[in-house]
Amino acid sequence: MEKKELIELIGKMSIRDKALELSQVSPAFYGEDGSTETGPASELGITPQEGYQTNSVLNYFGADRVKKIKQEHIEKNKHHIPMFLMADIIHGYGIILPIPLAMGCSFDPELIKKVYHNTAVAASAGGVDVTFTPMVDLVRDARWGRVYESTGEDKYLNSVMCEAMVKGLQGDSLSDKGTIAACVKHFAAYGAVEAGREYSFVDISERNLREYYLPSYKAGVDAGVEMIMTSFNSISGVPSTGNKWLMRDILRGEWGFKGVTISDWGSAISQGPSGHGTTEGLRGSAKVCMTAGLDIEMATNGYISSLEDLVNSGEIDEKLIDESVLRVLTLKNKLGLFENPTRYIDAEAEKRYARYPEFMEDARKMVCASSVLLKNDENFLPLNKEDKVALIGPYVDCERFNGFWSKAGTENKNITVREAFEGKGNYTFAKGSHRMGAEESQEALIIGYEINETDRSVLLAEAVETAKNADKVVLFIGEHFDQSGEAHSHLELKIPETQMELLRKVSEVNKNVAVVLFSGRPLDVREICANSKALLEVWMPGAAGATAIYDMLTGKEEPSGRLSMTFPARVGQCPIYYNRPRTCHRYFSDQKHRWMTRYTDFESEPMFTFGDGMGYTTFEYSGVSLDKAELNRGGKITASVTLKNTGTREGSETVQMYIFDKVASVARPLRELKGFKKVALKVGEERNVSFDIDEEMLKYWNIDMKFEADLGEFTVYIGHNSDTTNSADFKLV
Ligand code: GLC
Repeated sequence: MEKKELIELIGKMSIRDKALELSQVSPAFYGEDGSTETGPASELGITPQEGYQTNSVLNYFGADRVKKIKQEHIEKNKHHIPMFLMADIIHGYGIILPIPLAMGCSFDPELIKKVYHNTAVAASAGGVDVTFTPMVDLVRDARWGRVYESTGEDKYLNSVMCEAMVKGLQGDSLSDKGTIAACVKHFAAYGAVEAGREYSFVDISERNLREYYLPSYKAGVDAGVEMIMTSFNSISGVPSTGNKWLMRDILRGEWGFKGVTISDWGSAISQGPSGHGTTEGLRGSAKVCMTAGLDIEMATNGYISSLEDLVNSGEIDEKLIDESVLRVLTLKNKLGLFENPTRYIDAEAEKRYARYPEFMEDARKMVCASSVLLKNDENFLPLNKEDKVALIGPYVDCERFNGFWSKAGTENKNITVREAFEGKGNYTFAKGSHRMGAEESQEALIIGYEINETDRSVLLAEAVETAKNADKVVLFIGEHFDQSGEAHSHLELKIPETQMELLRKVSEVNKNVAVVLFSGRPLDVREICANSKALLEVWMPGAAGATAIYDMLTGKEEPSGRLSMTFPARVGQCPIYYNRPRTCHRYFSDQKHRWMTRYTDFESEPMFTFGDGMGYTTFEYSGVSLDKAELNRGGKITASVTLKNTGTREGSETVQMYIFDKVASVARPLRELKGFKKVALKVGEERNVSFDIDEEMLKYWNIDMKFEADLGEFTVYIGHNSDTTNSADFKLV
């Protein structure tokens, strides 16, 4: 449709029609068979017929029944406006990918773009029009359960990954087959909730917000993302979902965002007495949201119940509502839904994509690219073919290692670790423990995990016996997949005690232990490291997990991930991240000096820092060379190293480039990531790896709240992780 036709269409809509078109219903609205349920309708204060006037439904799956509700909707809608199906397709559809925190560790935006393209092809066959992805909240506190949905603690890496995900999902044009609209979330700074406590408030300075938290959302806008979701949290007391400064001044004013904004589930009305208490209830929330520029209200009825009255009382200008409706209809039009409301829905294709070899191969590559080898003493890994290896742990026979947001529907049973290894070498197997034990009964109750202590000692004894009779042991242990994710904040960063007991008992009888760790967040791995010779973090690896783990452990593939989020030594260090701003008393040459920035009862340094990780070979870096020592405003200089594979097999290294602003008008970090390149080298191969540096990279939000670079001295670091000392100095003149 032409824009003028959309505007004419809006001219025929009543205010109530518009309020309905700005409201998304929950999946409960439609029954198993796709019929509209009256229950949720009455809860929303609408008639079943008005259900066909609503904007969209979320997280309702299955190509056939999606097709049914979409056809019915456009036929019964008063103005024949099509509906959206929106969904949390965060890490794959059908073929579940590793969690985004893992994919951030791949430092491979091209591979990210490919796997999200695959996701869009599969999801569009299932009838999905919009996915609530990418989640780009910067995260620094592993106590927050949703760190797993982010790509990590660095604004530059998150921005690069956000762009790759948006472009993978949306392609070059939404009119192309196999594309879906992306939705960047949660705007803004949800990852900064106090103490990692879920749904808590955020209190940060505008400088911190702009310097660290906003860049990745802006990267999504610059990449052309079609939708932005507001966050549950307040920022300095103002709930994001009603925050005019965030949505109208920054998002639309400064960044030029023309797309659609949507609330989080209930975040609109949670400004009322049951939540932030910044409105008196439904009506006040609706008024604040529309004034702030919220287009679609998810799953609640503030708009439905109050917009008409707010316009009639003169408190809301109907023009604002018309602008929102136009943005929403423009997106439906971009997706071609007016002409073809069921677009690419194809039940057969949906099933085919759920085990599509090409997509599964990409998922396998992503597991290898995002798994992080944190320890490998004595080159313990990869395993030798002749080794007799005991594969022990609750993840040996478990097929559930998908992230929290794994789409139901076409998600199939994953291949297990045992199935990936059985019959391919001298392997024995033992479960060893359940995933959670009596020590975790409080959390098990919340996540619905059945605690079974009846066979705990039997499992343990069997595992110890199996370990005794093996040359090497690989333990497959970790969090339950549902121990991370939304509403899963933790006070401790440990895997369940019953599994730690297994590790201790096994390592008593066999010192040759490697640990394959499944987790949705950085954990306190001190005891795991103390009781093992190798540690491979595989996160929640998804459908290709077991196959990829086999390939990595046997050396067919190399784990090439590098940490995109710091591993604290213990939870008390949280929040902890590599680019902490400089502070006073940081530097005394005498490390024993008392008046230092540190804890006196435990060390301050993390267990593993941002960028950490290794492969199966070794690399050597030359010093950093610069083509010029001075950078003119508007010019560029090039920093280079020569990288050499000094090991015994081909491998890849993620060369990281950091910059340090020696003197700034506000306290700046000791270094910030400004570039990275993942480089594969054969044995003995050398390669020049260079990075261009320009003034834009040196800008920051200065004492006058202007985004500018200072003239003066800088240091560029190029190396293996955020601790590298390999550097050269230059000046901005
Ligand atoms: C949830 C999450 C959000 C998700 C939405 C729809 O509460 O905060 O990330 O997209 O609801 O499921």
